[in-house]
Amino acid sequence: MTKYVYSMIKIVYQLQIYRHNILHTLGKDDVVVELGCHLGNTTRLIAEKCPDGHIIAIDNSPEAIIPMENLMKEYQNIEFIPGDVRLHKTLEKVLKTLNKCDILTVDLGGGYHPDTTFKVYFIWSSSLKPGISIIRNQGLLDFVSSAHSEEYIKSKNGWLESSADAGIPPHLKEFKLWSSKL
Ligand SMILES: C[S@@+](CC[C@H](N)C(=O)[O-])C[C@H]1O[C@@H](n2cnc3c(N)ncnc32)[C@H](O)[C@@H]1O
Repeated sequence: MTKYVYSMIKIVYQLQIYRHNILHTLGKDDVVVELGCHLGNTTRLIAEKCPDGHIIAIDNSPEAIIPMENLMKEYQNIEFIPGDVRLHKTLEKVLKTLNKCDILTVDLGGGYHPDTTFKVYFIWSSSLKPGISIIRNQGLLDFVSSAHSEEYIKSKNGWLESSADAGIPPHLKEFKLWSSKL
């Protein structure tokens, strides 16, 4: 049986565990930024759970556009932004519309490159400073479960306090170095 442990930064692999964590963390009026919403199956669950909140859902797949536009008609609290979450302009657009972020969720695919997933998490969380982050990625889960250290550094929120403001603009020029294939 799966044992659920809730913490401020959560890494998971299975889609149902990702959804379970999101739904059990949400408050009625939370502001959620969902990176990698695909067809909006998790977005819909979030929208139901936080009717007084606001969800910004982002995906760069053309497949996402029509289902997400339909979902926005059903739920007033969803805003879909078609875009690449590795790009500065996508983050900038979201930063301009939000004054807080309670929950950041990242699912670029469970088996997606862990380095890219971490970088997306790191830069978005450093900028939005979410109270809680939930990340779906097998490689990152493997890394965190396999690594150990004698030293102890731990953050209290959904972003890494040890890196403070390292991810916020203008440092985002680093985004330009990414391969377009990843
Ligand atoms: C496994 S699906 C997400 C499933 C969704 N979270 C759910 O619960 O139904 C991964 C999604 O991440 C999106 N994605 C991958 N890389 C992306 C990027 N750089 N920018 C935006 N979306 C991206 C893909 O288009 C895909 O729709």
